[in-house]
Amino acid sequence: MKVSLFKDERTLARTLAGQIAQALAEKPDLVLGLPTGRTPIRLYHELGSMHAKGQIDFARATTFNLDEFLGIPSSHPGSYRSFMQQHLFSRVNLSPQRINIPNGTASDPAAECARYERAIADAGGIDLQLLGIGTNGHIGFNEPARELAGTTHRVALKASTRHSNAALFGGDERQVPEEALSMGMATIMHARRIVLIATGKSKARCIQRLVHGPITPKLPASFLQMHRRVELMLDETAASALDA
Ligand code: GLP
Repeated sequence: MKVSLFKDERTLARTLAGQIAQALAEKPDLVLGLPTGRTPIRLYHELGSMHAKGQIDFARATTFNLDEFLGIPSSHPGSYRSFMQQHLFSRVNLSPQRINIPNGTASDPAAECARYERAIADAGGIDLQLLGIGTNGHIGFNEPARELAGTTHRVALKASTRHSNAALFGGDERQVPEEALSMGMATIMHARRIVLIATGKSKARCIQRLVHGPITPKLPASFLQMHRRVELMLDETAASALDA
């Protein structure tokens, strides 16, 4: 795995935004996989500023978000759709028809998961998958478990994950939905290129286990060790537990 260190979040976000602009210049119909969470916010705002300066063009790009809460409408302020609208979609020129997020109010969640997988395949697969990481090592909403799901699936959220998503629900973790729809491990691992970003001390331990530990479903992100083209972009605090 390639590990790149940055002195602060801003430099990391700027570097990655530049790489995304370059990938889009080389392939205007790029298929991007997108995460939510606090970590990518700076990156999304940076992409917005670059777009305002005419430095990046999303007109022909397609995006697939990793996950969405189950049981709340996309218009709910806590939905990942609302998050993406606020931080990225309202700031760049993505075509609304090429923005994809699992539908958290689908009447048949299993059918929605199958539809989402087909949509990714029909788009030609994901060229560049961006990831954050949960403090328990989850990616998307693939939570630590005895077994991991391959494809897009319905998942029960851990208490720790609901706690860390509470800010989207007025700080009240009881308001965070108990379930979500998430891309699976194979969906993520099939991406041609993966960049995982992590910042802050709270991520240091799971980053250490991701880089130096065994591949285990107890740390879903550890499966990234098997991917041919994955890069971890870290700030100094997130990298602070790595061996020198
Ligand atoms: C959520 C998302 C993940 C994200 C994680 C980390 O649980 N489903 O995709 O990586 O949060 O969030 P943060 O960046 O806020 O630490």
